[in-house]
Amino acid sequence: MALEVDKIRRDFPLFQQADKEGWVYLDSAATSQKPRSVLAAMNQFYEQENANAHRSSYALAERATLRYEAARERVRRFINAAATEEIIFTRNTTESINLAAFGWAGKFLRPGDEILISEMEHHSNLVPWQRVCQSTGAQLKFVEFDEQGRLVMKQFHQLLGPRTRLVAVAHMSNSLGTIHPMEAMIAAAHRAGSLVLIDAAQSAPHARLDVQALDADFIAFSAHKMLGPLGIGVLYGRRSLLEEMDPLLFGGNMIGRVEHLKTTWNDLPWKLEAGTQNLAGAVGLAAALDYLDELGMEAIEAHDRMLGQMAIQQLCAIPGIRVYGPPDAHGPVVSFNLENIHPHDLATFLDQERVAVRSGHHCCQLVMKRLRVAATARASFYLYNDEEDVRRLAAALYQAKDYFKKWL
Ligand code: ALA
Repeated sequence: MALEVDKIRRDFPLFQQADKEGWVYLDSAATSQKPRSVLAAMNQFYEQENANAHRSSYALAERATLRYEAARERVRRFINAAATEEIIFTRNTTESINLAAFGWAGKFLRPGDEILISEMEHHSNLVPWQRVCQSTGAQLKFVEFDEQGRLVMKQFHQLLGPRTRLVAVAHMSNSLGTIHPMEAMIAAAHRAGSLVLIDAAQSAPHARLDVQALDADFIAFSAHKMLGPLGIGVLYGRRSLLEEMDPLLFGGNMIGRVEHLKTTWNDLPWKLEAGTQNLAGAVGLAAALDYLDELGMEAIEAHDRMLGQMAIQQLCAIPGIRVYGPPDAHGPVVSFNLENIHPHDLATFLDQERVAVRSGHHCCQLVMKRLRVAATARASFYLYNDEEDVRRLAAALYQAKDYFKKWL
């Protein structure tokens, strides 16, 4: 069923004022807005249930613990993981990837081993692997992308080999919007004997994430890009891998038995969650997943994809605009440039037209290098955007062309 955007927007307090002022928010790839139900759930937690989890036996603390663990079960159900022990709460996708990088790869990789990533990765799925390679002697290999912004699959298959221990790729590129053929890549990596980590930061908000169907070994995503609060993310991992890996952080609640000079670890998932956790964040994430499921991930995916396609069509029709990324295999993240106008200038102009887009290298300097540009402007769409928002973007770009014409 098609999404009723007008009705949806009424659930988002931020749009009440923004709509009055005529703002169009096209930066959900950076962070999404939050529905009232998420804010209310977090508020209710703080007002009625706030205590630390897994530490005290009084009734309030027990309720806080139950709420936190119920949120973990909500995440498990949302992504169809086999067990709650496979759901680790982190701060965000970056921390989730760092946890897998240093907890698993840092412990097990040896000189001669290889990690295969792509040139399209966000820095959070690149820099941790550089560090792991520096400390273990493993080698970092890169799959390139072609002129259209697709991974060169022939090269991917050539680079996969008996030394590949891990393939780490984003499901959907945050800079170009490319959706990679994940199922085929995972199957090929597994055939080669490699594990797979998926950076699902950009894909999880837009399409059903079924970790058992996908069959990846680690999957990282953030709440704040999928209607949830800032400051909480998830690392899904196969239980056997989480069992054997080391914690990234050490301290309270992640311990089993502590002696003067050595310590054993707690059971999963708490072994990987040191210190007081973001309980209200977990409660907010659970409320966000309720909201998404109520709308239906299939309807959200169709809606968001339609907006992405519409934006590509309308932007490609504007002379002088270059849209990056493949026209098909493209999610609702659209990167573009207008001739030689710097995207920061373009984004500032669009801001004056009350259209909010991101500009810059989008934490993907390798992508910009390959495209031979300093930066791009990027519009990203979500379930509270509609066709009118796409038209507003296109209209503002025509205005920008007119304004900047003396410099073009
Ligand atoms: N990774 C986020 C983005 O692409 C912040 O904007």
